[in-house]
Amino acid sequence: MSDKATLEINGDKFEFPVKIGSENEVAIDIKALRGATNGVITIDPGYKNTGSCESAITFLDGEKGILRYRGYSIEELAEKADFLEVAYLLIFGELPNKEELDKFHSDIKSHAVVDDDIKKILDAFPKSAHPMGVLSSLTSALTAFNPSSVDVNSDEAMYNAIVRILGKFPVLVAWTMRKKHGLPLDYGDNSLGYVENVLKMMFKSPTQEYEQNPILVNALDKLLILHADHEQNCSTSTVRITGSSHAGLFVSLAAGISALWGPLHGGANQAVLEMLEAIKEDGGDTKKYMAKAKDKNDPFRLMGFGHRVYKNFDPRAKIIKVAADEVLGDLGVEDPILDIAKGLEKEALEDQYFVDRKLYPNVDFYSGIIYRAMGIPVEMFTVMFALGRLPGWIAQWREMRMRKEPIGRPRQLYIGETYRAFKPIEKR
Ligand code: CMC
Repeated sequence: MSDKATLEINGDKFEFPVKIGSENEVAIDIKALRGATNGVITIDPGYKNTGSCESAITFLDGEKGILRYRGYSIEELAEKADFLEVAYLLIFGELPNKEELDKFHSDIKSHAVVDDDIKKILDAFPKSAHPMGVLSSLTSALTAFNPSSVDVNSDEAMYNAIVRILGKFPVLVAWTMRKKHGLPLDYGDNSLGYVENVLKMMFKSPTQEYEQNPILVNALDKLLILHADHEQNCSTSTVRITGSSHAGLFVSLAAGISALWGPLHGGANQAVLEMLEAIKEDGGDTKKYMAKAKDKNDPFRLMGFGHRVYKNFDPRAKIIKVAADEVLGDLGVEDPILDIAKGLEKEALEDQYFVDRKLYPNVDFYSGIIYRAMGIPVEMFTVMFALGRLPGWIAQWREMRMRKEPIGRPRQLYIGETYRAFKPIEKR
């Protein structure tokens, strides 16, 4: 591979360095393009060919279906690690030893309380509010109660901001759901593991003790690991670009939560379940919905299918499909929705339209089925995704700040009107 790429414009040749990543990915470094060419830029809507940064956190190969956090495969991490270990790995780069993990957890627990005034903000939301909007607002509001978390110019300040949000975020997640269901807003239990604590905060009834179900704890732990990072996707890029203005960690995360909400991104897990429900209500005719998905005049898309990067299979979907079978089996749940999902998957994998476009089930095709079996309401599915993605967002934000990346500010190709003289209102 040559270490230079040549670009010819109007007979003039310009050379740009070629960079090779640790997995032999190739990138043309065009940092000098505009200056050298007197104003020429590249254009790439949706950033399908644009690397926005150099990153050492997550590697994925969409053709081979590989996903690794800091070099460790997602399959091994999902099987052998727990969510907090994975969070530490993503953020700090190495798997923690026992001492490091204990300290990390204990520091998180020491911040597992939010200012009680946050309840007043939550109270002002209508019960009908979507939990993602509420979560984004509350996460942003946390800055007002923790102003020191904005200034992260020392390692200690950065660490404190990180353990603070890891402690407080599960409280916001639980309160968002409890408010919607009219349940009292409690705090967690510091004697529990991170994921056990989340479940207890979400589901504890005011009148009885909460009993942990290890099947649910394991299933949620695994789902959170699978969602923990996915390199420069829409929400992560949003977190990095928001933070690149040196806005604080919490507001950058709030921006990421808003980006995740959309049905083409994290909101797909809710959309998948709603789609499967609609197919069931409509008599379970999967062929009809396959036809709709392929019809260019119909806006319907098969939710949970397709991925910007995975063009072979989504390794997370493989793990989740097995987990869905296990969890439903262990809990003794028979869900007709699972049969519809499997039928739809089989048809799509054999259909020329889907084969030609390399459309495979993604992580969200089966996650909603597990969440439903766990008793998590549909509108909370994307919130659970956010809880899982939190360490990834934090790791990416930290990396962006530590590498001293410049403020994110893309260019554009202007296609509007050229200069025209102002027209007074009576002449328009
Ligand atoms: N159903 C039917 N057709 C589809 C679908 C689908 N789910 N996804 C893509 N296509 C078609 C699309 O119409 C286009 O066809 P043509 O070439 O004939 O115009 C072709 O496939 C390429 O699609 P695209 O929209 O250009 O691809 P993209 O890389 O921009 O979009 C995507 C990726 C995930 C937004 C898209 O596949 C999609 O909308 N999927 C459904 C939503 C979904 O499940 N999102 C969750 C993604 S995984 C969770 C996460 O990481 O956020």
